[in-house]
Amino acid sequence: MIDLKVRIGKTIFKNPVWAASGTFGNGEEFTDFLKITEIGAVVTKTVTRSPRRGNPVPRVVETPSGLLNSIGLENKGVEWFKKEQMPFLKELGVGTIVSIAGETPEEFVECAGKLTGKNRPDAIEINLSCPNVFHKGARRRLFAQDPKITEKITKAVKKKIKCPVITKLTPNVTDIGEIARAAENGGADAISLVNTYFGMAVDAEEMRPVLGNVTGGVSGPAIKPMALAAVWSAYNEVSIPIIGIGGIMTGLDAAEFILAGASAIQVGTANFIDPGRCAGVLKELKEYLNRKKIKRIRDLVGKLKV
Ligand code: FUM
Repeated sequence: MIDLKVRIGKTIFKNPVWAASGTFGNGEEFTDFLKITEIGAVVTKTVTRSPRRGNPVPRVVETPSGLLNSIGLENKGVEWFKKEQMPFLKELGVGTIVSIAGETPEEFVECAGKLTGKNRPDAIEINLSCPNVFHKGARRRLFAQDPKITEKITKAVKKKIKCPVITKLTPNVTDIGEIARAAENGGADAISLVNTYFGMAVDAEEMRPVLGNVTGGVSGPAIKPMALAAVWSAYNEVSIPIIGIGGIMTGLDAAEFILAGASAIQVGTANFIDPGRCAGVLKELKEYLNRKKIKRIRDLVGKLKV
């Protein structure tokens, strides 16, 4: 038996393979494709204090080895989510991490405050890194491009709730280590990285951008080498757990992220190709651990031979 458990703050997740926010609905949509309770956690689609309509269409386009999206955080609001979606996830008993966002630091805190009490999540992921929205009064385009505001929002959310806080970072920065440290200083129990890379697609015949919002965020295998480097850089800067994200398609990809310093990983774009992929990644990761005779997943974290 391999010990796959992962501790984030005071919460234990049964294994390190999680479904990434925005690629797995709120879990229920995937019940025909895999046994959801087998995976470590579902990170739900980002919710905000008030409902959002999202960005103009088209919002998604395939790119070489990747996917470009510009959804714009469309959602029905945190109160709807708590009432209509949380009971299913709680009853199912799967690890549940709710992704939240806001246009201002205060909105993050208000949103987090709605997720306490009955049916509260196992952790909250603060999405400071969606490349498809603008934030009022921010010095930079994304909150996670600014170490001060990253620390401030993390600290404020942490103060508001009891469950662990995971701060989700953008790769669209010069020094990811600096932002990782800021999240750690703010009291984050973990950081997740990377969110998508700024990107765009152009239709030369029509002489137009393909996406309704012109630019979007690139995910999928195309970004895996850069995501691995970001995880490795962050691992060398902070001592809190890192959740690795970026083009993970197989159990071997997951092992690569764990070797680079991730304590857990999230499967994202792969869910659009194969909705049962999270279960496949978990199975393949276990096969790798067996082959390497590794008995505890934590013994693999950061064990890159450099
Ligand atoms: O546009 C979106 O809803 C994407 C969110 C994200 O990448 O965080």
